[in-house]
Amino acid sequence: MTAFPCKPALLLALAALTGFAAGTALAQSAVTDGQKLAFDRGKGNCLTCHVIKGGDLPGTIGPELKDIKAKYPDRNELAAIIFDETKRNPQTMMPPFGRNRILTEQEISAIVDFLQTL
Ligand code: HEC
Repeated sequence: MTAFPCKPALLLALAALTGFAAGTALAQSAVTDGQKLAFDRGKGNCLTCHVIKGGDLPGTIGPELKDIKAKYPDRNELAAIIFDETKRNPQTMMPPFGRNRILTEQEISAIVDFLQTL
C-alpha cells in the first residue's frame, strides 16, 4: 500500500487538472471547428466578403474581422449578427446564415468562439 502514496487530496488535484485540460481541449476544438466552418466555401464562406487572419483569397465587401472581442464582448450579439444581420441592417449583403439554415445554432456558436479569438 505504501509503494504508491495516493492521498485523496492528490487524487482530487489530479482530477481537477485533467478536468481542466479536457475543458480547454473542448474549447480549443470549438475554435478549430468554427474556423473550418467560417473558411469553408460551402458553409460559412465568410472569406468571400471578410478579411480574416489565416484565411486565403478574402473579399472586401464586408469589414475585416479583427478585434472582435473588444467590439462585441457579448457573444449573443455576435451570434445574432451571423444568424440574421438583416435585423440590424435590412440592406446588408451578408446572408442570414441562421434564418436561411445555412448554419445551425451549434455551428454559429463555434464560429462565435473562433471570431472571439480574432
Ligand atoms: C456576401 C458578403 C458577406 C458574407 C458571405 C459574410 N458577411 Fe459578414 N458582413 C458583410 C457586410 C457587408 C457587413 C457590414 C455590416 C452590414 O452590412 O450590416 C458584415 C458584417 C459582419 C460583422 C460585423 C463586423 C463589425 O466589425 O461590426 C461580423 C461579425 C460578420 N459580418 C461576420 C461574418 C461571418 C462570421 C460570416 C461567415 C459565417 C460572414 N460575416 C459572411 C458581408 C458578408
